[in-house]
Amino acid sequence: KKITILGVPMDLGQSRRGVNMGPSAIRYAGVVERLEKLGYVVTDQGDIEIGAAERLHDPETNMKNLKAVADANAILGEKVDGIVEKGEFPLIFGGDHSIAIGTLAGVSKHYKNLGVIWYDAHGDLNIADTSPSGNIHGMPLAASLGHGHPTLTDIGGYAPKVKHENIVIIGARDLDKGEKELIKDKNIKVFTMHEIDKLGMTKVMEEAIDYLKDKTDGVHLSLDLDALDPSDCPGVGTPVLGGISYRESHLAMEMLAESGIITSAEFVEVNPILDERNRTATVAVALMGSLFGEKLL
Ligand code: ARG
Ligand code: MN
Ligand code: MN
Ligand code: MN
Repeated sequence: KKITILGVPMDLGQSRRGVNMGPSAIRYAGVVERLEKLGYVVTDQGDIEIGAAERLHDPETNMKNLKAVADANAILGEKVDGIVEKGEFPLIFGGDHSIAIGTLAGVSKHYKNLGVIWYDAHGDLNIADTSPSGNIHGMPLAASLGHGHPTLTDIGGYAPKVKHENIVIIGARDLDKGEKELIKDKNIKVFTMHEIDKLGMTKVMEEAIDYLKDKTDGVHLSLDLDALDPSDCPGVGTPVLGGISYRESHLAMEMLAESGIITSAEFVEVNPILDERNRTATVAVALMGSLFGEKLL
C-alpha cells in the first residue's frame, strides 16, 4: 500500500491568484500523517515547477496562458506516469483544475478503459469557443475527452484520455450553454445537485459506482473542492451556492473506499488566500482520510 503525493502549484488556468498555495495548505493540514496512520507508506515528491504567467488572453485561441498551462501538464503527465509505473497510488494536489489534463495523461496510459469521477460544481467541459472566461480550468474534462485545442487534447502524445461513457459528474450546479449541449449530445452521466437532493447521496454513489464498475479497469477521482458548499469550503476561486455538504462528501468518499474502484485521485482548487483558517484544505484532508479507508470504529 504505497501512496505518492505530487503537488502542482498551478494558478494559470484561472484568474485568481493564491490557488498555487493549495499544495502547501493541504500538506499543512496534515495529510501525510493522516494517511500513514491508516497504514500506507507515503512518499511526497514535492511540487512540480510551473512556468511564468504569460498574462496573455490570446484573442486567437480565447485561452489564457495556454503555453504555460500545457507545458506544466506535459511534465505532470510524465511524473504521474512514473508513479503508476511503479505500482504506487498517485495522489495529486492542485492548483487549479487545469492540472487534471496532465494527471489523466499520465494515468490513462495504463488503462484500456479508465473511469473518471468528476466531483465538481462545474462540468469543466468547455472548449475555447464555448468558454465564457478563457480560463483553462473550465476545460480539462473536455480536453481529456478529446474536445478542444490540440495543444491541450494531445498532451502526453495521445487522445482521448477517457471515453464519454466512462465518466460521471457529481455535484454540478453551474453549467455553461456549450457544456449542457455536450452533455446531452454525448449522453454524459451527470448527477446534478437536483439528483443529490432528490435521491440522496447514498443512491447517487451506488448508481455512480454501478455505472463504472464493470466497464472500467481503473477509476480516477478528480475532486474540485468547489463541489462542496461554500459554507464548508470557502477557500475556492469559483464558489457556487447550494453545494454538497461536508457529511455527504464523507459518505461519498467512504462508499468509494468500500467499492475499491479508485486507482488515482486529485484534490484541486484549494485557495488559501480566499480561505478561513485553512478550513478548505482541512476538509480536503479529512475527505482523503475517508477515501483511503478511515473509519470511526
Ligand atoms: N464554467 C466556468 C468557466 O468555464 C467556470 C469553470 C470553473 N472551473 C473550475 N475548475 N473551478 O470559466
Ligand atoms: Mn469547480
Ligand atoms: Mn458559469
Ligand atoms: Mn473543476
